[in-house]
Amino acid sequence: MTDRLAAVVLAAGMGTRMKSELPKVLHPVAGKPMIDWVLDAAGSIGADPVVVVTAPGQDALRRAVAGRAASAVQEQPLGTGDAVKPARQALAPMTDGTVIVLYGDTPMITAATLSRMVEARRGPDAPAVVVLGFEPADPALYGRLVLGADHSLERIVEARDAGPVEREIRLCNGGVMAIDAAVLFAMLDAIGNANVKGEYYLTDIVGIARERDRRCAVVTCSPIETMGVDSRAGLAAAEAAMQARLRAAAMDDGATLIAPETVFLCHDTRLGRDVTVHPHVVFGPGVTVADGVEIRSFSHLEGATVATGAIIGPYARLRPGAEIGSGAHIGNFVEIKNAVVEPGAKANHLTYVGDARVGAGANLGAGTITCNYDGFAKHHTDIGAGAFIGSNSALVAPVTIGDGAIVGAGSTVTRDVPADALAVVRGEDRIVPGGAARFRSRRANPGKD
Ligand code: UD1
Ligand code: MG
Repeated sequence: MTDRLAAVVLAAGMGTRMKSELPKVLHPVAGKPMIDWVLDAAGSIGADPVVVVTAPGQDALRRAVAGRAASAVQEQPLGTGDAVKPARQALAPMTDGTVIVLYGDTPMITAATLSRMVEARRGPDAPAVVVLGFEPADPALYGRLVLGADHSLERIVEARDAGPVEREIRLCNGGVMAIDAAVLFAMLDAIGNANVKGEYYLTDIVGIARERDRRCAVVTCSPIETMGVDSRAGLAAAEAAMQARLRAAAMDDGATLIAPETVFLCHDTRLGRDVTVHPHVVFGPGVTVADGVEIRSFSHLEGATVATGAIIGPYARLRPGAEIGSGAHIGNFVEIKNAVVEPGAKANHLTYVGDARVGAGANLGAGTITCNYDGFAKHHTDIGAGAFIGSNSALVAPVTIGDGAIVGAGSTVTRDVPADALAVVRGEDRIVPGGAARFRSRRANPGKD
């Protein structure tokens, strides 16, 4: 046997219980479509080609996987045994080696487990089929793995066809199989549908291999990895499991999550060492956080990079294109979008910075707003190094504030401010001595005056 490896991902199920316009396997888990988790696991153990089996109406799914996998169409949902057959043409070159069959709706499956299955296939007695087994808390609906005296796999009995003795078996079929490519399609052709559902069961392939004097084996994994998603509740359960996995990985890599169960990560969130994430922080896609950063409670980050030693939050919002420099401070109710905040700059309260550069060490007072949108187009604001923007200032883009310039509080700046200049753009002060007292007296005694 050679080391050639291919994969077939079954995704032709209708997923009707999701009650969704979106094909089930495109629903995201930790920000990534379920099927992409499966394709990534198959890809990372070197499976090539990978064939996704779809239903006739699933153009959206075929478009979504195009480029990373071939797709094939199962004309009718006749069962898992039938579902692998449409991959025959794409797998024609696979005259030997291993074909892994897995489901598109089980995002928790890991490359490590798939590798163990492939290793078992390559074992000395080259089992024809290696099945992924697990022990669910409630085996009710799963196929039961019937073992022989030597602990090899004799057959799989679907729950609905199982007798009372077989129903007592706790070891169940997790749905993934590694099958000898040389005999895969011959064995599939031998599967019949004489069962209570009239379906072609892929699981019958084990009994067929045994009839042909081929050994079959079981590799086991934790029930987490075989979690399948059939409903919105199942999707939420998979999300919770994936979050637990991502949090554990982030902590393993040296980040402190003070209350991990309150922190939501995305599939691609990258946290450096000695990052501290306080309770209740949400990471959307595309966030990279360097070493030693502190992210305080109730912050929301997506598409952002944060450099060493910066402090973010509490209550900060970093939107796509936010690049926060080392040691910068982004405080409460501050929103940053498509803007570079250079090292040591501070925006600590109630500020919007969009389409801008904030130079190193600049200080934005409370209520600073970059007015980046005029109703038609977005414009850039450039704030120089060491500039000081007084509270409640509106910087009307396009506008440049030079290095070291000071903008007085309450200014509405529409013209460029040169380096080291002072700009105060507001109505003139008018202070009338005794004016308040006279006003009150007029209101208290109308008519007298
Ligand atoms: C299957 C197994 C069962 C195992 C369980 C684990 C069979 C006969 N039974 O049962 O032993 O314990 O998974 O979750 O294989 N699909 C198609 N085309 C079809 C039918 C299914 O593409 O005609 C796809 C579905 O989209 C799904 C996967 O195959 O991704 C599994 O199908 P499902 O109906 O969920 O199988 P189970 O009855 O759960
Ligand atoms: Mg199922």
